[in-house]
Amino acid sequence: MSNPGYTDITAQTVPFPNVTRSNELYRRAGELIPGWTQLISRRADQFANGVSPTYAQWAKGARFIDVDENEYVDWVNAVGAVILGHADDVVDTAVKAQIDRGSIYTLNSPLEIELAEELCATIPSAEMVRYTKGGGEACAVAARIARGATGRDKILICGYHGWHDWYQAANFGVDPESGEYPFAGIEPIGVPRALAGTVIPFTYGNLNMLAARLDEHQGEVAAIMMEPARSQLPPPGYLEGVQALARKHGVVLIFDEVSCGWRQSIGGIQEAVGVTPDMTVLAKAMSNGYPMGAVVGSRAVMEPAARMFISSSYWSDNIGLIAALTTIRELKRRDATTHFRAIGEKLRAALDQALVAAGLEGRCTGLFSNPGVSLALPTGVDPRKVSTLFIQEMARRRIHTYMGFRATLAHGDREIEQTAEAAAAAFAVIKHGLEHDALDRLLVVDLKKEPFRRLVR
Ligand SMILES: Cc1ncc(COP(=O)(O)O)c(C=O)c1O
Repeated sequence: MSNPGYTDITAQTVPFPNVTRSNELYRRAGELIPGWTQLISRRADQFANGVSPTYAQWAKGARFIDVDENEYVDWVNAVGAVILGHADDVVDTAVKAQIDRGSIYTLNSPLEIELAEELCATIPSAEMVRYTKGGGEACAVAARIARGATGRDKILICGYHGWHDWYQAANFGVDPESGEYPFAGIEPIGVPRALAGTVIPFTYGNLNMLAARLDEHQGEVAAIMMEPARSQLPPPGYLEGVQALARKHGVVLIFDEVSCGWRQSIGGIQEAVGVTPDMTVLAKAMSNGYPMGAVVGSRAVMEPAARMFISSSYWSDNIGLIAALTTIRELKRRDATTHFRAIGEKLRAALDQALVAAGLEGRCTGLFSNPGVSLALPTGVDPRKVSTLFIQEMARRRIHTYMGFRATLAHGDREIEQTAEAAAAAFAVIKHGLEHDALDRLLVVDLKKEPFRRLVR
């Protein structure tokens, strides 16, 4: 790995990729599409706005090509939705063959049963299965089933669970002046105020707070819905404690594994830590980029769903079903967990080495499925300046990433080396910026917007 040294930093010898067409398309999007994009995480202001690519035209394996013909190593991977690698040959061949047999039937497809059997054999909490297309939708279905099965209305939440009214109502419990909305600049506008108080957040890791919330709303809580992990494994005993409280209060325990599922362990965080919830929400990576989501759970909790109105035309289209079935089988066949561990550990070691080479204090930490760089910054330094500068300098070197990294099985040594080399240069720029109070001068873009807070407080 080459250390660029300060000469490179001050002279900034590496030119930025030309992203003129991306920027022009984004300007047009602003006129035609309120909010520019369909997914907040795809907005330009989530990256180095004006320097990072915004529109792509091709993606394969661990890489994509933007509309200006620049090639990047991709560590975002459709915000985790791509797990085997972009345009995976096995999944795509299965999908294309299915298209020839019909993408959707008038009748039901036997694939529905086949995928349900595969999920029940894979996810510890799965005895019965319902499908959706997306993660937020699956969370809404899980909330409906839990409310219907218990006859109670309130839901305690910890994490991000999508855009639907039932969940966004949690924002009514937050003082608008506090800046505690999940996403800066987005308020619960359009969410019925009548839902205020129906969804109540609790802080991850704090069992006393959860117990107090359950006591306070005794007999009214249908479910605890939570992300069982995000960037670290849960503290020992924590999920067991949550499960014990849920049982004590007769509350349905739902793990939202939309983001943490599949990579750390194919059976999810629940399999990795050995705590089985009553219900699980799955989506994103389960189908390697084809729209698919699922709610799985115990027979006791899921069976009442037969009497509830939960129905939609595209939930069982053949494309999502075959993509999910093939992806799950390929994850097993390719021994995904072992590979993700190897990729994650190599990346962590390479980034740690890059930090040392740059003389910057920090570590690459977190789950092997989602490692992230955390820097020890001097007091008074705005971390947003540093993360924006990192993204800017990585984009300059054709690496598309945040400070956190999510691999696919297509990421190999070449991508890790290229990333570590770019990171060493980016870290050296940051070090220079910190030492010379020059972060503002080195930044050529506006500060990136914060990602939405996940209400994990
Ligand atoms: C934990 C979790 N739940 C739900 C969702 C919503 O999924 P989707 O964007 O597919 O609606 C996400 C998306 O990031 C998520 O991370």
